[in-house]
Amino acid sequence: MEKLSRRSAIALFGAAAGTALSSSLLLRTVFGSQDRQPSEANPQFPWPYEKLNPDVIAERAYHDYYKGHCMYGTFASIIGELADKKGEPYRSFPMMMMKYGAGGVTGWASLCGALNGAAAAIAMFVENPEALINELYGWHERTALPDFRPKNPKFEIVKSTAGSVLCHASVSNWCEVAKVKSFSKERAERCAWIAASIARFTTELLNAHFAGTFKAAFPIPERVKTCRGCHDQGGMLENSRGKMDCNSCHPKLGPKHPKI
Ligand code: HEC
Ligand code: HEC
Repeated sequence: MEKLSRRSAIALFGAAAGTALSSSLLLRTVFGSQDRQPSEANPQFPWPYEKLNPDVIAERAYHDYYKGHCMYGTFASIIGELADKKGEPYRSFPMMMMKYGAGGVTGWASLCGALNGAAAAIAMFVENPEALINELYGWHERTALPDFRPKNPKFEIVKSTAGSVLCHASVSNWCEVAKVKSFSKERAERCAWIAASIARFTTELLNAHFAGTFKAAFPIPERVKTCRGCHDQGGMLENSRGKMDCNSCHPKLGPKHPKI
């Protein structure tokens, strides 16, 4: 692109103010389209992935948790490892933005931040990430976690099954099993182990995907499929959507509910 002198740039902007041209259109005209061309700093999406060691990533996620919480923990463990190995573009990614996911998005206890960060990392490398994210979320819903113990833990952590992808259910189920408060140091340590476990599983998924060996082991359970048959897309009611286990929030159906 030709360099513009300051004066001619100002003249152009001045002219634009007096025309119907929007400034964004002008910027596109002068500086080129915002649909950026691939370059070293901005390669074609999805970004290239390189096989990583799941245990190394897990240990990293454990430490990253303490730098920027759960979502940052899983995301930065994978992207940070690639940044250390390969430099750009991974190094320039504003990873700290992932702090927003802490506590199920700024303490709302909605989607588990570690799962949110892991899905973001998958989506960075896999254009159609649904199968891998389904597997990760299904695994998380139904597996006793954490299943990774860091090298130098601050506390020992007992396992619990979240039955959900939600931070709220995951934390509260664990608090009940561990007999520990939700704002304790032990609970923070537990979520660091969870971030590590999720980062490890995510790395295994990415490795398998790129090796062409990925096979889903946690499909949507039959009983959830039954509910979805009437309540989800194309069903007689089509008044809900989602793949979460219905039972975790609707353990009992009303007396008028059809027998299933
Ligand atoms: C055969 C179709 C069918 C299936 C399968 C089905 N539902 Fe329903 N569901 C209905 C109908 C019809 C209603 C409306 C009933 C009414 O008028 O109360 C309903 C109502 C509901 C309601 C509203 C409150 C209530 O309890 O009536 C909830 C919640 C619900 N279903 C959840 C579920 C869940 C969870 C499952 C799976 C375990 C499920 N449904 C499976 C047809 C179905
Ligand atoms: C995380 C908790 C949660 C999960 C998991 C969940 N639901 Fe719900 N569901 C709710 C809440 C909350 C409402 C709103 C209830 C209300 O305001 O009365 C609701 C409402 C509904 C309703 C409408 C109820 C009515 O009164 O008419 C249906 C139908 C329903 N859910 C079906 C499902 C099905 C099917 C699944 C599984 C695929 C599912 N839900 C999973 C929490 C959940």
